[in-house]
Amino acid sequence: MKFVLIFGAIFWPRSSWQQCDDNGEMHSNGDKWIRNNHFLVTCRGGKIQTLKCVTDSGHLIDVGSKTHTENGYEYSCNQEEQQKEINVNSCSTFADFSDDIFKDRFAICCISRRFKGCVDINGDIIKHGYFLIGNQSLKFCKIAKNQLSARIEPKGCFNGSIHDDINDEKLHIKKYVTWKNGEFEWRCGDDGIHVQKCFVDGKVYWAGSSWIENNGNVKTCSTIY
Ligand SMILES: *[C@@H]1O[C@H](CO)[C@@H](O)[C@H](O)[C@H]1NC(C)=O
Ligand SMILES: *[C@@H]1O[C@H](CO)[C@@H](O)[C@H](O)[C@H]1NC(C)=O
Repeated sequence: MKFVLIFGAIFWPRSSWQQCDDNGEMHSNGDKWIRNNHFLVTCRGGKIQTLKCVTDSGHLIDVGSKTHTENGYEYSCNQEEQQKEINVNSCSTFADFSDDIFKDRFAICCISRRFKGCVDINGDIIKHGYFLIGNQSLKFCKIAKNQLSARIEPKGCFNGSIHDDINDEKLHIKKYVTWKNGEFEWRCGDDGIHVQKCFVDGKVYWAGSSWIENNGNVKTCSTIY
């Protein structure tokens, strides 16, 4: 088979405010992020819109014409030649900046056919330095001088908000460090910060536990940051 269908979902939430709720993760107007590994999306006026589809081979492709709506999702699809391996020689001689190739969080420029940076949680390209990939997981992007090789180094977790400076080492946490904050014990694990334990009414619950309180309320100790 030569062609594969790529589906881009556009989700239209009912609420009319400006933020976008992507399965519980809030994004501000104008934010860009990669969704389900296959869609570069943005938040526009409270709606998540697909800007580009990311193919399995890492190419960004434009969203084509709308096809149909299903369960509140609007699907559009594009045709893209299937490619098993990424090869910069497949870049057109007339490539421009919209032809960047994405592979495993690396961004490759199709004009120079060299690495240009690493892709963070918002879909932004970081040329060199610290960046976040989700769950406050902290990474460092290194591009070799000749831009023919690149490396993403694990740096533990970032214990700050979007308003904090990502280079502030006081907010960097080494992997496997745990700390207590209020009714939670947090841990910097392999994929970011997670709740490890909950402290409720003098009892300790491990993440993943659920229990029924005297008043009938069902509680869970969640693992999500
Ligand atoms: C992470 O931040 C919280 C809140 O600012 C603080 O209480 C906690 O000590 C920090 N954890 C570490 C390991 O620095
Ligand atoms: C964030 O945490 C969830 C739950 O453990 C995990 O499935 C997901 O892969 C993590 N995301 C990243 C970017 O590590």
